[in-house]
Amino acid sequence: MPENTQPSVIGKPQIRIDGPFKVSGTAMYATDHNFPGMLYGVPVEATIASGKIQKLDTSAAEKMPGVRAIFHRANIGKISRSTPGEGFERICVERRPPFEDDVVRYYGQYVALAVADTFEVAKAAADAVRVTYDKQKPNVEADLQPDDDPEEIATTYGPVKRLQSERGDPENAFAKAAVKINQTYATPSETHNPIELQAATAIWDGDKLTIYEESQSIFNMRDVIAQMFGLPKENVRVITKFVGSGFGSKLWPWTHCPLACAAARQLGRPVKLILSRRMTFQSAGHRARTQQRVRLGATPEGKLVSLQHDYVYERSMLDNYHEDCGEATAFHYSVPNLRVKFGRAKRHIGTPSDMRGPGAVPGLYATESAMNELADELKMDPVKLRVLNEPKIDESLGIPFSSRHYVECLELGAEKFGWSKRNAQVGSMKQNGLTLGWGMAGAAWVAARFPAAASIELRDDGTVRVASGTQDIGTGTYTILAQLAAQKTGVALDKVEVALGDTTLPEGPISGGSMATGSLVPAVFAAADNAITSLLSIATTTPGSPYEKRKSDDLAFEGGRVFVKADGPSGGVPFADLLRRANVRLVSGHGSAEATFGEKKPKFSTHSFGCHFVEVTWQPEIARLRVNRVVTVIDAGRIINPLAGRNQIEGAVVMGIGMALLEHTTYDPQNGAPINSNLADYMVAVNADVPPLDVHFLDFPDKEINELGARGIGEIGLAGIAAAITAAVHHATGVRVRELPVTLDKLI
Ligand code: MOS
Repeated sequence: MPENTQPSVIGKPQIRIDGPFKVSGTAMYATDHNFPGMLYGVPVEATIASGKIQKLDTSAAEKMPGVRAIFHRANIGKISRSTPGEGFERICVERRPPFEDDVVRYYGQYVALAVADTFEVAKAAADAVRVTYDKQKPNVEADLQPDDDPEEIATTYGPVKRLQSERGDPENAFAKAAVKINQTYATPSETHNPIELQAATAIWDGDKLTIYEESQSIFNMRDVIAQMFGLPKENVRVITKFVGSGFGSKLWPWTHCPLACAAARQLGRPVKLILSRRMTFQSAGHRARTQQRVRLGATPEGKLVSLQHDYVYERSMLDNYHEDCGEATAFHYSVPNLRVKFGRAKRHIGTPSDMRGPGAVPGLYATESAMNELADELKMDPVKLRVLNEPKIDESLGIPFSSRHYVECLELGAEKFGWSKRNAQVGSMKQNGLTLGWGMAGAAWVAARFPAAASIELRDDGTVRVASGTQDIGTGTYTILAQLAAQKTGVALDKVEVALGDTTLPEGPISGGSMATGSLVPAVFAAADNAITSLLSIATTTPGSPYEKRKSDDLAFEGGRVFVKADGPSGGVPFADLLRRANVRLVSGHGSAEATFGEKKPKFSTHSFGCHFVEVTWQPEIARLRVNRVVTVIDAGRIINPLAGRNQIEGAVVMGIGMALLEHTTYDPQNGAPINSNLADYMVAVNADVPPLDVHFLDFPDKEINELGARGIGEIGLAGIAAAITAAVHHATGVRVRELPVTLDKLI
């Protein structure tokens, strides 16, 4: 197809097309769907974190009016284990099906399920189930000592190249280095806390199962559930039209979903199961606690000679989710001698899982903090230190970067922030009676494509439909799909209908890894090209068509019109006219694109980059610390929708303020419960904590990723921000906080 020369809708700020549905309350989230005869399920949560169920007394609960069943191990029916497939098939971090045995391995593990006519009765019945346990003392110890074979490689999912990375002789180089940093940084467990709670509604029709879930990956959920219930994939349909954010907590299926499906199967009625906020802290994933030792060795001039990043993270008793803290370590800076190594510590906790910027976010907190400490040790500007150690290629893989503009990020960030006015002396900068602290840090996040398919219809009323079974988790995927379709078909955005969030649609990418947009570009473009090919063939074969005697090759499609190439785009016929004349309601095209994520022999190392510059204010008299100003610069290739893009980065920075200053999930050492499992006790950053955020995007399209050059932006904004904030805190107070969050007791 000829290049489209119409005014581009790509790169222009676009208001979300789904906005009106959300603000008018007509957007249907997973739990908004109700069905005749629907029942409500409420799980019974284990009140111990380690031990065995001795007795489950359901008699009182069963007698309550309106109760339909109390399910447990003996009566739930068969739920098989789902196993991982090739590559990214059937990902599931908590593999044990609910009720598989009578062992309790974490607090809040589901041990029974009450199902009743109303939610209230189901809740009362769940509370009335009496469980006695053979109880053991749980291990939720905060200090992490590796307890597994250090040579064992995690087998969670996907090809993970940098699990352990080594080059040169890092120990020897460190021993000989003129300047050294050797510090340990700790990050706590964090819980995702999207506003929309997790939930599943399961409806059986014979051996066909429909599930309404707020999933970040509907096809993966379909495949996992199909295997658990012994169904062919085609018999399972997962629907997710809107998601009230996920941050990774909704990427993979949790055990409430098969529970709802099993209960619905046993009762022959639809069952809806909504988690409480407390349950989401216990049994729907969290960011793993980490302890990370970083050793840096440098020349007196600041050239890195050795980097060692050894980290330990917690995992559950059965699962092996990998927190890949070294994700960015091996390529971020030029250093000849390097080692990244990890160990794991088993705890009686629900399994950790991906949380926005998994691995890299806690990892970069540690490595970027160490870089800042090295800069101070060298009495060197931390920006200059980073520029000095800019690599020419990805030194861990020995291949070039597809597009890397980290230095430009640093330069623009420094300029916008006014970094040159910094006085490095701790506590030396004052403003309006407050002590100012300035800090900065770099960011990186992987970019790649997941496999994606999409379809496009050109319709005889001049509208276009684009469909892909992906999800919009609040990031703006509805609008991105509309923009991609509008760009290729030349119709206005409001003439594009978007369908997503349904496994009956072409298989779309997961909404994870910041890869949905980049994966959708080639799939939608190929679908549009195929639809246009069909249109041209109709134009040249329909009797009476103005192009009846022409060859398809003589024709072009642009701005929604078909015209003769030789005549130029000024004339031509709108596609809707051609379809009506041919008495064809629509033409459609299907398109798909391969994954690049996990490629065995990639030609390029593909990542996004960025940096944050932060100002805090500190009032020692009243121990008041505030983030006062943030400048963030992001190099994520082409930004398709700068409005939604800025929103993603701002949201990530807000989350970063929470990570740095507020968030931590705390386990009770006695019973193993996450004790602050509610939004009153688990603090996230709110508007009052957030200053004006200044976000800048560089514009270097990365054509290795797709033809628009668009990488992802969902996660990178959270990378590095905590290190920038702790550096600013040190600059203001003189206190190095190496264990997040920076609570005030650590400053006074
Ligand atoms: Mo993100 S943790 O890949 O949803």
